[in-house]
Amino acid sequence: MQGDAPLVRRALSDVSRETTVVAAPRRERGDTPIARAAEVALEVRGVGSKKSWPRPERCRVVTIANQKGGVGKTTSAVNLAAGLAMHGSRVLVVDLDPQGNASTALGIEHRQSVTSVYNALVEDVPLRDVATSVEGFEGLHCVPATIELAGAEIELVSLVARESRLKRALDAYDQTELDYILIDCPPSLGLLTVNALVAADEVLIPIQCEYYALEGLGQLLKNVELVQSHLNPGLRISTIMLTMYDGRTRLASQVADEVRSHFDTLVLDTVIPRSVRVSEAPSYGQSVMTYDPGSTGALAYMEAAREMAYRGAAQ
Ligand SMILES: Nc1ncnc2c1ncn2[C@@H]1O[C@H](COP(=O)(O)OP(=O)(O)OP(=O)(O)O)[C@@H](O)[C@H]1O
Ligand SMILES: [Mg+2]
Repeated sequence: MQGDAPLVRRALSDVSRETTVVAAPRRERGDTPIARAAEVALEVRGVGSKKSWPRPERCRVVTIANQKGGVGKTTSAVNLAAGLAMHGSRVLVVDLDPQGNASTALGIEHRQSVTSVYNALVEDVPLRDVATSVEGFEGLHCVPATIELAGAEIELVSLVARESRLKRALDAYDQTELDYILIDCPPSLGLLTVNALVAADEVLIPIQCEYYALEGLGQLLKNVELVQSHLNPGLRISTIMLTMYDGRTRLASQVADEVRSHFDTLVLDTVIPRSVRVSEAPSYGQSVMTYDPGSTGALAYMEAAREMAYRGAAQ
C-alpha cells in the first residue's frame, strides 16, 4: 500500500533529513498500549493515582509550527500544555498567533487593550508582566496574543535583532521556574514564526492526516534548516504529531504510514483522533482535558503529553 501513494516522498523530495532530525527512543518494553490506555482513562477520571511525569533538567522550549492552517497547532499546544501541567510540570504557553486562539482556548482575556506578547516583542515589556495564570491548573500560564500582533510582522522589520525578539524576552524570564515553554505559531512562515524558531530548542510539527496537510512541509523543513544554519544551531525537530486522524478513511492511514516511514521515531506513537469534543472545548474557554476528560481526544492528548515528557527525559 505504501508504494502506490508516495505522498510524503513527493512533498519532501528535496529536503535532507540529517540536518534537522534526531532519533527519539521507542517506548519502554512491557508498557503495552492497552495497559497504558486503561491507566490514562482511570487517571483522567480521577480514579487511581495521578503520577508525576519526569520533568526536564532544564526548561524545554518547544515551538509548535506548520504554516499550513488548521492542522491542530493550537489544539496541540493547549492540550499538551494542560496534560503536562496536570502531571506536575510548570508550563508557559506563548500565543504567537494574532488570531489569539490559544488564549481563547485557555480562557485568557485577549481584547485589544490587554497587554500581550505584542508588547513584549515590540516594546520590551517583560514577559513575566504579560503572563497570566490559567484557571483550574496549577503551574500553567499563558502569554496572550491580541490582534495587535498582526501588525508586528511589519513593525518588527525595522527593529534591532528582529528575528530574536522573542528569544530575548524568554531569556529575560527566569526559566528555572518552568519545565516547558510551548509556543503556538501562526499559519505562516513570517517573522513571528522565525522568532519562535530562533527562541526554541525543539520544533513540534503537527501533521493533519490528509493529503493537503503535507504540502508545504518541505518549505517548513527548509526554513528550520535556514534558522539552524544562521540563527539557532541548537534547534532540532524533536516531534512529529499526527492529528485529526479519521480511522475510517484509507487516506488517513496512508498519510500516517508514509509520515512514519519518512520521519521514523520522531513521530509520536500516539495518534490524535478526530473528535467532536476536542473541537467544542475552546468555545467554553477550556482544554479538552477539563471539558471532557474521558473523551477519546482528551485521552489521546494526555498520552501524547506523556510520551513527550518521557521521550525528553530519555534524551
Ligand atoms: N482532534 C481534533 N478533532 C476534531 N477537531 C479538531 C481536532 N483538532 C483540532 N480540531 C479543530 O480543527 C480546527 C483547527 O484546529 P487548530 O485551531 O488547532 O489548528 P491550527 O493549526 O492552530 O490552525 P491555525 O493555522 O488557524 O492557527 C479547530 O476548529 C479545532 O477545534
Ligand atoms: Mg492556531
